Amino acid sequence: MRPFSFAFAVFVVVASINVSFAGDVGNPAAVKSEDGKYVDKDGNPTFKVGADGTVDWYTYSGYRRYHSECHVCHGPDGMGSTYAPALKDSLQKMDYAGFLEVVASGRKNVNASQDSVMPAFGDNTNVACYMDDLYIYLRARANDAVGRTRPGKREDKPAAYTAAENACMGKPQ
Ligand code: HEC
Repeated sequence: MRPFSFAFAVFVVVASINVSFAGDVGNPAAVKSEDGKYVDKDGNPTFKVGADGTVDWYTYSGYRRYHSECHVCHGPDGMGSTYAPALKDSLQKMDYAGFLEVVASGRKNVNASQDSVMPAFGDNTNVACYMDDLYIYLRARANDAVGRTRPGKREDKPAAYTAAENACMGKPQ
């Protein structure tokens, strides 16, 4: 039995190393801002929290969008529920492209023992126009950059954001 257990232990260690590589979502540190939207070194959207706790506009907006569209299933502050996973944890492993795909197209995991459905939000402008806001807020939660409270101080709403929002929602510019 002993050689087998040893081999199994090695397998578990190797498997967990692989998981941590597969889960490499990149360094979330903001390297620059484009019209008030911060990006990391890979060009993916990210959060920015100042030394005095001031959050970027997207983190603040994402907090509000999350709590109007997602929290009923995923729990307040991305903490999860008995029905849907804690997105605070999911975004430690899921990258930007993976997030967009699940939220736009949805996902079903329905069988005899469970009935787990993530709706597709690609056609819902209240979500689809705010994908980056949601991603940035949840990425901040996944990195413990914001806590379980409504962000207090925030940066101003960028003018470019308002223009893009109106265009996406089909409102006059
Ligand atoms: C009606 C309930 C419901 C709503 C509303 C909902 N979700 Fe989900 N979501 C789920 C369920 C259930 C799953 C797990 C699906 C599965 O088992 O594959 C899920 C999965 C996900 C995942 C994948 C998580 C992982 O660990 O793989 C992401 C990302 C996600 N949801 C984001 C969102 C966002 C963002 C919103 C708000 C715009 C939202 N969801 C609204 C039920 C919901």
